[in-house]
Amino acid sequence: MIEEIELLKKEADQFEISEKNSLEEYRLKFLSRNGLMNKLFENFKLVTKEQKREMGQKINVLKTFVQQKFDDASQRLEESATSADDGTDYSMPTQQTIGSRHPLNIIQNQILEIFAKLGFEVGEGPEIEHDWYNFSALNFPENHPARDMQDTFFVDKEYALRTHTTSVQVRVLENTKPPVRMVSPGRVYRNEAISARAHCFFHQVDGFYVDKGVSFADLKHTLYTFVNQLFGSDTKVRFRPSYFPFTEVSAEMDCTCFLCKGKGCNVCKYTGWVEILGSGMIDPAVLKNCGIDPEEYSGFAFGMGVERITMLKYDVKDLRMYSENNVKFLSQYKGVV
Ligand code: DAH
Repeated sequence: MIEEIELLKKEADQFEISEKNSLEEYRLKFLSRNGLMNKLFENFKLVTKEQKREMGQKINVLKTFVQQKFDDASQRLEESATSADDGTDYSMPTQQTIGSRHPLNIIQNQILEIFAKLGFEVGEGPEIEHDWYNFSALNFPENHPARDMQDTFFVDKEYALRTHTTSVQVRVLENTKPPVRMVSPGRVYRNEAISARAHCFFHQVDGFYVDKGVSFADLKHTLYTFVNQLFGSDTKVRFRPSYFPFTEVSAEMDCTCFLCKGKGCNVCKYTGWVEILGSGMIDPAVLKNCGIDPEEYSGFAFGMGVERITMLKYDVKDLRMYSENNVKFLSQYKGVV
């Protein structure tokens, strides 16, 4: 019997309980109704009277040992199950997802960089703008349709959300003695129905140069240099007469489609040309409104839509993509600076 007890102790001691299944195996083997402990108690009945006391003690010690091992293992497994171990290896290096610049920012930065090289500073103005800066000083007649409720989000009688960043021209010219070269990027607002080709807000870069003797030739060369840098050195430009209240003469500028190089494709609607910006010589009345003598100074100005140029450069078909925060769309620009 002693041998039997010692063997069982050894067996229980060596039994490895590493997870729930082996705990249950242990219980069945040693502690269940048909388990080895009960068998031992059965055999105990056969022990002689003289041996009963000694064997009884030994069996009790064994029973406590076997039971204790079960209780300890069961508690240990319970604790590790409720601990924060969700299978994650926290020693692994973390994966950092890197964001991307917004395509409008990419193109706007390219535009500003080119003009910076040509000596243009950057100036900004408020988005809620006084009528004077957005319209009156820029020579918009009182009944001009752009002032109409259809185009402008009015805040009150005097203020509106600016409809173009040309307003910054007035703010800067009022306070600066020429010569001055400046580009003004920013968001503008128009009361338009939202579609693939129009939105109620978009972005412009406006620019101007005022000095003694600035001519239309300066305007042409500056803008020619600009598109050559933006779209490539083989780009050609053409000017078409146009009208803006704040410029006289006024011209719209097209450049050869940089995709088909003027051959004709669906981006340029098979004309070979794409419209890029509006421009002109600053109307003397505007200079006067800003306190600058038009007899002494002259200037040119231009304004372009950032969305439009970005659409052309990246072949974006729907304006709404720019403001929908669609990660699939935005992550295409990963790594572009
Ligand atoms: N402000 C005009 C617009 O929003 C664009 C523009 C045209 C700006 C000619 C200019 C300019 O500075 O000279 O459509």
